[in-house]
Amino acid sequence: MSRSLIFKDKNRLSPYYIPKRLPHRDQQISLLLSIYSDMLKNIWKAYPRFIQIVGATGTGKTCTTIRFGELIAERAKREGVKLQHVYMNCKVDGVTRYVLYGNLVRKAASKISTRSLSPEEMIRQLVEYLRFEDIFLIVTFDEIDYFVQMNPREHIIYDLTRIPEARPGEPTPIVGEIFIARSLKWHELLEPGEKSTLGIGIIEFPRYTSGQIRDILEDRVDGAFQPRTVADDTLDLISDITANPPINGDIRVGLELLYYSGVLAENTGSSRVLPEHVRRVYSEINPTITAEDVMSLDRDGRLALLALVRGLKASGSAYISLRELRKLYSVVCDEYNTKPAEDFERLIQDLIYRGIVDMKSLMEIGISGATLIDLEKFLNNLLKQLEPLSG
Ligand SMILES: Nc1ncnc2c1ncn2[C@@H]1O[C@H](COP(=O)(O)OP(=O)(O)OP(=O)(O)O)[C@@H](O)[C@H]1O
Ligand SMILES: [Mg+2]
Repeated sequence: MSRSLIFKDKNRLSPYYIPKRLPHRDQQISLLLSIYSDMLKNIWKAYPRFIQIVGATGTGKTCTTIRFGELIAERAKREGVKLQHVYMNCKVDGVTRYVLYGNLVRKAASKISTRSLSPEEMIRQLVEYLRFEDIFLIVTFDEIDYFVQMNPREHIIYDLTRIPEARPGEPTPIVGEIFIARSLKWHELLEPGEKSTLGIGIIEFPRYTSGQIRDILEDRVDGAFQPRTVADDTLDLISDITANPPINGDIRVGLELLYYSGVLAENTGSSRVLPEHVRRVYSEINPTITAEDVMSLDRDGRLALLALVRGLKASGSAYISLRELRKLYSVVCDEYNTKPAEDFERLIQDLIYRGIVDMKSLMEIGISGATLIDLEKFLNNLLKQLEPLSG
């Protein structure tokens, strides 16, 4: 296989890849570390801490927790404590206690055979084993909201948070449990007793902003792409699309947009990944500008849109300024023998309200919902068709 001119290592763009550095999640990691690393000093006397992590999809909950798990295990090792982090995903590892605990035992203590054991016995044997071996665990239960929704009657939270009560007053080897969910809605399905033992330790994962998404993607670009193949404007556009509705900050979509834009650039023989590649990929997954939208515009609107399309195409960037757009608009009007509309700004405002045009500031007006090439063709045809009628 010949060497790619675009990619260095596509794997780095996978949403499953967890980089060492997680920009904008240091706070959450240090909070988790401060909660659990104090325990290391006197782990035999530690009582368990339950923490909940809450945030929308693609806010880095899973990867941050896994990274924390690695860090706390490293710290423990330095202190001579046998502490492991075990990651359980309820969607993958089971939505009944029987299957889930079976998998927990397999991950934490593969020597124990869980055959013919009840869920309670599995946990009991696990705890005995850990005590005997002086091993301590922090267990993360990811997608716990899913488990509880699927199976509210199993009262898993009751079970998991009362493990220490098997031997009242004695510390337990399971020193931490972290529960990850997308929101707090699953609490409605808990009994008061469950809610109470779960406690109020909640760490929030806010949605990533456009600037934060850009930082995260920029880090990935370095490892994934050949030097200088991804234009700055490309990253700006992907970050803005990802931060705004309907994506609302889901970083996974940002990574995918970056990946598929790169693939498209490569397959079309481009030496760089450009905003137009992003527009094409995005308009295929999410065609926000329809032919109907464009047809419903009056002549002034179509001319203004055509001006914007041409301006973006000529500059190759994600955005152009309002000033520049105004100039291009009068050129297009000349071409079509039309007097420019008096209230140019209202014209653009209307395009924004219709969701056809994106505007961040007077300096940044762009299009993300369709490719420029398609739009230009469509607009040219439309304007030509109307020519005899409007003349
Ligand atoms: N701060 C970050 N820095 C670098 N990469 C990140 C960051 N946050 C997320 N990612 C990347 O995005 C991927 C998806 O994030 P993650 O799986 O942690 O989201 P999540 O909040 O668990 O979403 P869901 O609720 O859908 O499970 C990660 O595997 C990682 O590749
Ligand atoms: Mg997750």
